[in-house]
Formats: sequence, C-alpha cells, structure tokens
Amino acid sequence: TPPEFTLQEELAQLKKEKNAVILAHYYQEPEIQEVADFIGDSLELAKKAAETPADIIVFAGVHFMAETAKILNPSKKVLLPDLNAGCSLADSCPPKAFRELKKQYPDHVVVTYINCSAEIKTLSDIVCTSSNAEKVINSIPPEKPIIFAPDKNLGKYLMQKTGRKMLLWDGACIVHEAFSLDKLLELYGQHPSAKIIAHPESEDHILKVANYIGSTSGMLNFVKNTEHDTFIVATEAGILHQMQKDVPWKTLIPAPAKEDNTCACSECAFMKMNTLEKLYNCLAEETPEITLSQDLMKKALRPIERMLELS
Ligand code: 13P
Ligand code: SF4
Repeated sequence: TPPEFTLQEELAQLKKEKNAVILAHYYQEPEIQEVADFIGDSLELAKKAAETPADIIVFAGVHFMAETAKILNPSKKVLLPDLNAGCSLADSCPPKAFRELKKQYPDHVVVTYINCSAEIKTLSDIVCTSSNAEKVINSIPPEKPIIFAPDKNLGKYLMQKTGRKMLLWDGACIVHEAFSLDKLLELYGQHPSAKIIAHPESEDHILKVANYIGSTSGMLNFVKNTEHDTFIVATEAGILHQMQKDVPWKTLIPAPAKEDNTCACSECAFMKMNTLEKLYNCLAEETPEITLSQDLMKKALRPIERMLELS
C-alpha cells in the first residue's frame, strides 16, 4: 500500500516542486499559519512579496493583499485560495464614486490605506498600511490638503496623531466595528491589571481606552516585548494564535463583540474563507489566479512603491 501523506506534507512537497512560497496574514486559520513560509502584517507581507525569489506566490489572505503582491510581481503567478475573500473596507470605496470625490478636490493629495482595490490604488498618490500611516501622512508637506480613504476610523486616529485635517472617506472594517465598549470595560473590570491593545481600524471609543494602538505586528511585538502579563486584544481573533505561541505564559483575552455579532469575539469572515484544503488545491491546480491588466498594474504600482521607499 502506498504511504499516506498528510495534506501538510503534500503541500510542502508541491511547494518545493513548483518553487512556490506561501505568505499568510495573522488573521488566517491557525492551520494555514502553520504551513506558511512567512506570516506578517500588511506591510511586511507586501515587502516579502516584493523580494521573494519564488515563481509562484500563494497568498493566504484577502483579495487586495494578493492584488498588491501581483502588482509588485507582474510576471509571477499569484494565487488566492478563494477569490471571494474580499474586505469590507475595499468594498466601501467604489472607483466611480471615488473619482467623483477626487474631481471635487483636485488640489488634495490622495492617501489610500492598502485595504482598497487595485483600481483605487491607481487613483492614489501614496498608499499606507496601519504600521506606516503616520510616517506617510507626515511625509506630505503641511500646506497640502489630504484625502484619506477608505477607513474613517484609521483616518480619525491619524488626524489626532498628526494634527493634520483630512477629508475622510466613509469606510470601515466590519470586524473592528463589532467590538462592544460596554463589554470591554466590564471585562477590564474583571482583569484590572490587563493592558488593552487595539488595532487603529477600531472605533474612536475603543481606541480611547487602549494602552497600545498599532498594526497586527505592532500588537504582537507589544505583547512579546513588554513586561505585562495580561492583555485584552481588540483585533481579529486570528492573531491570538501567533501571540499565544510566542508567549505561552501570558494571558491573552480577545476583546468581546456586540450582542448581535456572529461570534463572541471578532472574526473576519473574508479571511476565514481560506481553508487548508483550498490552499492545497489552489497550488495543485494553480488556480484561482490574480490577473490584472498591465496598464492597471503599472498605474497601481507607483503609489505602492512610494510607500515602500518611505518604509
Ligand atoms: P495589518 O496587518 O496591517 O495591521 O492590517 C490589519 C487588517 O485588517 C488587514 O486586513
Ligand atoms: Fe477587511 Fe477588516 Fe477583514 Fe481586514 S479584518 S480583511 S480590514 S474586513
């Protein structure tokens, strides 16, 4: 009888044969994170995608992330296990409406959060992620007015941090808007020594009570590199896998979601569309693949490169 291989073993074999790399975001299922060659926040993943020597990039994340990897590697094959893995932020900003806004404010510098479609990126002067957004805003001459899209929560936070007034697009992440402040404070009452850490896509009232605000990697580093031992984590619950692996002796509590949320903590249904099986099949069959026109990739590359030059 032929030896039985696990899906993980078969995937490792396939990866070698095809010279493929698996890049995964922290919000992916633990079993996907376990087979990834690299796990990171949006900026780290974009940087990895820009420098990988692999022929095929399998992106275990959402559509805009795989698109960014493709824009950075037009000649490589970029695969996404499920093409329906979208993002509420990217969906909130349709190109037609965004073009209209830009037309009304032709003198504004356009800064777009990386969580947007490739077409929106072509309308952007510079892209940012949550880990470099402050730096990107500060790189723009103070006399220049700014449009920031699509995340209004991150935008509001950046206005407070940088003192810059910006015109904000009305978009939000459904996952980070699901946290309940009342329940969070109640939980904090039960763990008064805990540090509250939050992603800047969260609403203002959550950020006000946070001891640390940062990207997924920033939050992970805070948990690893500070002496505190209990944390309430206000971001997608997938990050807890890597955090708990890095600091098994610390207590990590996911921030609670509002009553009407589909899960008690906060999970991104888009991120969770990817499964280990879909990941394997997509590499085996080399589909679904991200395809974009050369012209679109060329135009979308410029604002991404500007960001990478700054980071
Ligand atoms: P970062 O990993 O860059 O913090 O982004 C979080 C996020 O919501 C990705 O969709
Ligand atoms: Fe988009 Fe929010 Fe999901 Fe990230 S967590 S992919 S921002 S919907």
